[in-house]
Amino acid sequence: MIEQEMDFENRIVSPDFNGAQDEAELTLRPKSLTEYIGQDKAKENLNIYITAAKQRGESLDHVLLYGPPGLGKTTLAGIIAREMGVNLRVTSGPAIEKQGDLVAILTSLEEGDVLFIDEIHRLSRNVEEILYPAMEDFSLDIIIGKGPSARSIRLDVPHFTLVGATTRSGQLTAPLRDRFGVLLRLELYTPEQLAQIVMRSAGILGIAIDRDGALEIASRSRGTPRIANRLLKRVRDIAQVRFDGVINEKTASAALSLFEIDELGLDDFDRRMLETIITNYNGGPVGLDTLAAAIGEEAITIEDVYEPYLLQIGFLTRTARGRCVTKLAFEHLGIPFNGKDGGQQSIF
Ligand code: ADE
Repeated sequence: MIEQEMDFENRIVSPDFNGAQDEAELTLRPKSLTEYIGQDKAKENLNIYITAAKQRGESLDHVLLYGPPGLGKTTLAGIIAREMGVNLRVTSGPAIEKQGDLVAILTSLEEGDVLFIDEIHRLSRNVEEILYPAMEDFSLDIIIGKGPSARSIRLDVPHFTLVGATTRSGQLTAPLRDRFGVLLRLELYTPEQLAQIVMRSAGILGIAIDRDGALEIASRSRGTPRIANRLLKRVRDIAQVRFDGVINEKTASAALSLFEIDELGLDDFDRRMLETIITNYNGGPVGLDTLAAAIGEEAITIEDVYEPYLLQIGFLTRTARGRCVTKLAFEHLGIPFNGKDGGQQSIF
């Protein structure tokens, strides 16, 4: 068993590090599809739909973006608004508590605006019900009064584009999911794409870095631009104080070792999660809920935040009977392999 309390909130490789989006992150966000690196399939589709909607002089159909956190869903919503030449309104599922909150937002939109709802799967059912006619007919059915004197009135709202974001499309109710015309899945980035993002960010922030330094940071960023940009800034501090200020392979590697992030981007939490499966469950299979209880984290967080990268690098497999640690992960951790491989190969 794991004895020590784990400090998930302050994990430097968490995509939601302290939940904060600092100002520098905003300046690093690409503002057009051309500037946006990676997600080629999503970009190509969006480009077609945006061009077509603009040619017809219509608002863009509602878009659902899904995939692990930190991959640029908010950024894409901003790009959609900019490319369509309209305003962007940003909110989130948990922030809309009552039907009235959503009615207030919808009635204050201007024609064509983009409304971005992050964590859209966390909308309550009665708020969701307001959204259905708004998405479909751009109208609201509002009940005024209670009991026998209650009346329903219909209100028109401007044509708008809803951009919803969620970690998995399966978390959405079917009626909500069905009302999106465009469904785009965002994938983890490759180290090469992340290196391009790091080089671009370093250029904007005036940080001296060479390509090998960028690749070193990129390959430890768990496929996630938000993590890559955060590591870039921390590595800059160490390169400045301990070295000559320039980020190259040597300084990046030394700095990242100081954060206890290994050459594949795994931190203490990943290692302990894998070790728990190996030690307590003989390498797996272990059910998600059992694993969650053993390491003291919510099952949904494990599934959405921690697992995608471990699955991508082939350290973990999901089977019908639960999670298994692969031979690759045993080797990486320096633990003798017990002969039960989950079977997935590394993509690297
Ligand atoms: N910064 C964060 N994500 C980015 C992306 N996909 N392209 C370019 N810069 C980024």
